[in-house]
Amino acid sequence: APRPVVFSGMQPSSDSLHLGNYLGALVNWVSLQDTVDPIYCVVDLHAITVSQDPAALRESTRRTAAQYLAAGIDLERSTLFVQSHVPAHSELAWVLGTITGFGEASRMTQFKDKSARYGAESTNVGLFTYPVLMAADILLYQADLVPVGDDQRQHLELTRDLAARFNSRFGETFTIPEGYIPKESARIYDLQDPTSKMSKSAASDAGLIRLLDDPKIITKRIKSAVTDAEREIRFDREAKPGVSNLLDVFAATTGRTISELESAYAGKGYGDLKGDLAEAVVERVAPIRERTFELLDDPAELDRLLARGADKAAERAEATLATVYDRIGF
Ligand code: ADP
Ligand code: NA
Repeated sequence: APRPVVFSGMQPSSDSLHLGNYLGALVNWVSLQDTVDPIYCVVDLHAITVSQDPAALRESTRRTAAQYLAAGIDLERSTLFVQSHVPAHSELAWVLGTITGFGEASRMTQFKDKSARYGAESTNVGLFTYPVLMAADILLYQADLVPVGDDQRQHLELTRDLAARFNSRFGETFTIPEGYIPKESARIYDLQDPTSKMSKSAASDAGLIRLLDDPKIITKRIKSAVTDAEREIRFDREAKPGVSNLLDVFAATTGRTISELESAYAGKGYGDLKGDLAEAVVERVAPIRERTFELLDDPAELDRLLARGADKAAERAEATLATVYDRIGF
């Protein structure tokens, strides 16, 4: 049987992915390559719905793609590309916009939240039609499965409605995608505030580990992580969130289980745990960092890889778009 098609988009992130993105999402995307037909798209068309600096967007798009490649996204098994390189996304979005009700689009809570936050001045029509573009992203590849968090659930519902509506009006064209919650993956917390998840939008960088950070900074941040006044190394999310987070990071980084780690560190101090963890994290991310910088230092090679990804994506996307154009009378 053919492998299920999984579509996943990621925003070009400012400079570096953090350990939460890596252990919580990217590691999963790498392992999915063994069982599904993955389409991974750096969604730069979506990124311009908020005001952007052109040079910064260009740079972050490349850096994001480079980190995915460096972390193990393999162009033989995955389709990895930049959204604006495949014009069919914009073209299908236009068509889908013509079967989307204005009232239906107006009910999207993410638009309501964002437009309230940005104010009328910064709210553009692109932000309003963002979910229609997202529907195009997914439907172009006849995706079976789309990993979704809570914030994207309503957009996926719209995608399903648009696919079904198009199919009933113009004939079977689109696969109706299912949402799925990615199977239990690590959730990483801020090293300084271990009850909040590690996030690029954290107030301070002190609790953040970025894939592209210098190993010395990684080591320093892990050694300065918040713990507690006890000395015992044991997992207890409620009473010992800092230590529990360090154990979680250790387990996700090395594949050792929490109980193995608890036994290995029985009678040892937080300093021992942090020193060993820093070494393990540095060992895990250093090759990704080096490979990312190699790719960024050779723009021609990175462009070649991304062009190859875009060609692969475009072939599939254009086949769907040709059917759509035919069905609607073009
Ligand atoms: P951020 O929260 O830093 O803005 P994004 O929202 O861009 O990160 O998330 C990109 C991906 O990384 C998503 O799949 C998200 O679930 C995952 N992710 C982000 N932060 C964490 C975290 N702290 N732990 C686990 N996964 C995370
Ligand atoms: Na976020």
